[in-house]
Amino acid sequence: MIEKIFAAMDFSDFETFEKEFNKISSHIELFKVGYQLFYSEAGARVMDFLDDKGKKIFLDLKMNDIPNTMLKGLTSLRKRFTFHYLTAHISSGEAAMRSLATEGRQLGVEILGVTLLTSLSADDLHSMGIDKDHSSLIRRRIESAADWGVPGVIMSAADLTAVDVPNIIKITPGIRYKEDSADDQKRVTTPAEAFANGADMLVMGRSLFKHPVEKLLKELGE
Ligand code: C5P
Repeated sequence: MIEKIFAAMDFSDFETFEKEFNKISSHIELFKVGYQLFYSEAGARVMDFLDDKGKKIFLDLKMNDIPNTMLKGLTSLRKRFTFHYLTAHISSGEAAMRSLATEGRQLGVEILGVTLLTSLSADDLHSMGIDKDHSSLIRRRIESAADWGVPGVIMSAADLTAVDVPNIIKITPGIRYKEDSADDQKRVTTPAEAFANGADMLVMGRSLFKHPVEKLLKELGE
């Protein structure tokens, strides 16, 4: 069983989700459920289905609000669903991230900090009043997250080599097999390259579902 790859279940209905789940479930342990699926009509059913199958869920809801609201949101979510990972923007600040990470630990949920959305360019940051260069900003956010007790961060493959922060789990999206197109991802790396560059875990969507899951076993040497 592969325990270092999150399958990104970016689907909008239960039938498609189940069909794609069946292709990979014999080898994949971790499943990422994000806006598209969670907010769809199938959201609650998918969460219960994955839990019934004994799979671990990464709920990618990228929380960002005042500390009390984030904390209460986590408590309400956890009362209804079982999940093991939840994302929140590091830019929510110290109080929110610290309390979320602490509450997460009590509830068996690891909080993963979103460093910086990869869709933001230097111009976008400038227009929001952020003039720090990209790598310094990412490094600062990861260091802060580690200080605040946040167990993991989501960071792009490109930043893995530019920013070296130990003591925090690094989870990397933007993964493609060599022969696959990048789609809308700006920069991509293969699973093996991402691990070689320091990723601890990966998020894989389109490339994973395009090929038999055995290809991933081969790529990882398992
Ligand atoms: O299909 P693909 O492998 O590109 O999917 C990547 C997944 O990782 C998607 O669910 C996407 O939302 C997520 N993600 C990303 N880049 C980030 C953060 C999350 O691609 N910076």
